[in-house]
Amino acid sequence: MYEFTEDCMIHIDNIDDEHRRLFQMLNEAFALVKETDNAASIAKNLIANLKDYAVTHFAHEEEYMKSIHDPELPIQQREHKAFAEKINSFQLDESSPEAARNSLNELLLYLTKWLYSHILSSDMMIGKMAPETNVDDAFAFTDKYITGIELVDEEHKHLFDIIRDTNDVIHAELLHDKYDEIIRLLSELREYTETHFSDEEKLMEKIGYPGLATQKRAHAAFVEKLVNIDFRELEAMDDNQEEYLMDLIGFLLGWLSNHILASDMKIGEYIKEHKIEIQ
Ligand SMILES: [Fe+2]
Ligand SMILES: [Fe+2]
Ligand SMILES: [Fe+2]
Repeated sequence: MYEFTEDCMIHIDNIDDEHRRLFQMLNEAFALVKETDNAASIAKNLIANLKDYAVTHFAHEEEYMKSIHDPELPIQQREHKAFAEKINSFQLDESSPEAARNSLNELLLYLTKWLYSHILSSDMMIGKMAPETNVDDAFAFTDKYITGIELVDEEHKHLFDIIRDTNDVIHAELLHDKYDEIIRLLSELREYTETHFSDEEKLMEKIGYPGLATQKRAHAAFVEKLVNIDFRELEAMDDNQEEYLMDLIGFLLGWLSNHILASDMKIGEYIKEHKIEIQ
């Protein structure tokens, strides 16, 4: 069961309400599929209702983003479209009642996971403007990011460095294998992010940190985002490749900085408060 947990709140009332409603609808759908003897007969309605509500919600969200000139609007539009396409292309397996139930369940599970991860990785950033990436110290790992946990701070700094390097390559004028280098750096970022999250989670486990589950969910959503960067799509672009990459870098830096300030700092505070020794 997927719950709309505290960490899903983005603190924009309308959007939070609609997200909560979507979760509720999905949970009701799971319950319905469980109870029915004939999943095929309810599938059509169920899916249509979900899709309608989701599409309306996406439109509201995009409208809001437009109104605040949120630079991540194109990224969100792409993701929302993918969700709608997944629902549209769904084919119910009607070979037996059991198969119908399973295939409907599978779709619901996919949609729930998608929504959860989308909220935690993308919607979370609505209204939190990504930092200006064209100012001098945009990529600087300044004191405000210091959690006081040496390993965590070092790893965070390294993440910032990889993002800065990627940004430098995007803007480099004379580099003939620019594209390959960007892909290499983004892959490095993904790998290092996974290493870092795993280290951070181990540490939280070790000290019995109460926010571990929330952190794990946020980490998983961000990693999924990194895994889903579509290099083929990038390759196919000519004119707006640079713009796409700059948006992406702005997003990654924004998410990370936001996560460190809002969540990781609390690990440091917990350690201090409970006078925990880390060796
Ligand atoms: Fe969204
Ligand atoms: Fe972290
Ligand atoms: Fe974290």
